[in-house]
Amino acid sequence: MNILGIETSCDETAAAVVKDGREVLSNVVYTQIPLHQPYGGVVPEIASRAHIEKISQVVGDAMKGQSVDAVAVTYGPGLAPALIVGLNAAKGLAKSLGVPLIGINHIEAHLHSPFIYDSPDDAAAKLADPREIGPMLGLAVSGGNTVWIDMPECGKYEVIGETLDDAAGEAFDKAAKLLGLGYPGGLKIDRISAAYRERFPNEPLVPFPKGRPRDGVTALAGLPAELCVSFSGLKTALLRHVQQNPGLLSQDVEKEDFGGYSVPPAVAHVVASYQEAIVQAIADRTRAALRRGSYRAFVLGGGVSLNSRVRAVLTKVCSAAHVPLLMAKPKFTGDNGAMVAGLAFYRRNVSGDAALRADASPSLQVGLT
Ligand code: KG4
Repeated sequence: MNILGIETSCDETAAAVVKDGREVLSNVVYTQIPLHQPYGGVVPEIASRAHIEKISQVVGDAMKGQSVDAVAVTYGPGLAPALIVGLNAAKGLAKSLGVPLIGINHIEAHLHSPFIYDSPDDAAAKLADPREIGPMLGLAVSGGNTVWIDMPECGKYEVIGETLDDAAGEAFDKAAKLLGLGYPGGLKIDRISAAYRERFPNEPLVPFPKGRPRDGVTALAGLPAELCVSFSGLKTALLRHVQQNPGLLSQDVEKEDFGGYSVPPAVAHVVASYQEAIVQAIADRTRAALRRGSYRAFVLGGGVSLNSRVRAVLTKVCSAAHVPLLMAKPKFTGDNGAMVAGLAFYRRNVSGDAALRADASPSLQVGLT
């Protein structure tokens, strides 16, 4: 069964055709990053307009030479004016092709990304059917989400931990902005940190806070404190560190190459320290979550799952817990239509006439049927 997946929840206009939930036959992603760069973050109105301009071309390119048996679309969570564009395009297409429409949750789709492949050599091509693997623990970690999800079986989801404020990707992006590295910041911080740690492996890092929520705060979310993170304190600690070291961002300091970016060594040191605080926060909550169940796999998805240090540290955490780590192929870590199309083979958050009537749902909860 070939499903066309459409994704416009944030700043990527994306469409893909996936066969039987796993094999990616086409995958087209148009990223709007350059449009948002001057503003240092995603501007919903600009995102919406760019989706409108690109959606026909992106969907047309993805469908070229493919037959389609159903159309799947992200209808939440995400930015309302962005979601609406993909949802309306999907409704029109499903109607005109006379095929069913399936509404999909963006976060759940990220957790399906380790199962999709576009080459028989991919690790994902060798994995068992996701319906045979559970129970699984998932972590969707991106610019908009940082959430640990218990998946007792394929298609069943329960949030067991999450960020109480910023998502990890947002924490990376805000730090990059503060340090003058531009937007988005995740990949730059990743590369600068890796280069710094290779050159100065024994240099102690700045002891930034590791994302522990304040006592009592998690009671509001009703989730166990040991599975929740808060990155707002980390962000403030970075700001304070910059204020207390006025020379840090001075233009007069000599810059050096760190991972392809020209920055003063003192800035690279702060960048590596900040990244480590985020990575250790994620590792710590993952360790605690793995202890709570007898999981047969840990699935990792979302833009931040591309981070080399996140991957390395979580590989160790999973190996110590004797739980296989399933990670998305790098091209499928960020937002894409293939994860949406793939998941729709196994799961329908909303389908049939209900899907055709569905509205965009910016705060869509994980696990709804
Ligand atoms: O999944 P994604 O494309 O969009 C959302 O659904 O949010 O994730 C984008 C986020 C951005 O915050 C970006 O800075 C971050 O992922 N990111 C990274 C890396 N590559 C992208 N963060 C850390 N390390 C990376 N290598």
